[in-house]
Amino acid sequence: MLTINESVQVLLSDKAVVIRRFYDRFLAECPEARPYFDDVKLEHQASLLTIALVTMETHYSHSYPATEHYLKVLGYRHRDNGIPPQLFPRFGESLIATLKEYHGADWNDGLELQWNEAFAKTTATMLEGYEMEFTY
Ligand code: HEM
Repeated sequence: MLTINESVQVLLSDKAVVIRRFYDRFLAECPEARPYFDDVKLEHQASLLTIALVTMETHYSHSYPATEHYLKVLGYRHRDNGIPPQLFPRFGESLIATLKEYHGADWNDGLELQWNEAFAKTTATMLEGYEMEFTY
């Protein structure tokens, strides 16, 4: 059974930036999010999100102080960009649907639960960052 850790390794090993297709899905399923991506190069953004998925999995599996801090800073940056917290669950639904489609027959209920839990934990930590003040 594919686990969330193996899922991330498969994503990282693929020559294609698999997560690029997430943005097409998300922007179709959540038109309210489109204006925030007007000036964003999605090819580059997909690489950043791919590595953020590594952090998401690591934070979920280990709760390291470093991943917690990273995700709080990341959340703070999203607040700075005016991203409404209500869009996070929509982002998660499209992300997990993308992963499900990508893994095909390797997808399983346990993996779906792990990704849902990992996304919920990451969102909670990022939204803590919404309440903080970082200077950079
Ligand atoms: C768990 C959820 C999310 C993760 C892990 C995530 C991850 C990232 C990462 C790694 C970056 C690049 C770092 C940065 O520019 O600060 C970024 C930027 C960005 N994210 Fe997110 N994001 C999440 C949720 C969202 C949501 C819900 C939206 C909007 C609807 C969004 C829109 C954006 C935008 C517009 C940028 C800035 C791109 C730019 O200006 O270059 N993100 N995100």
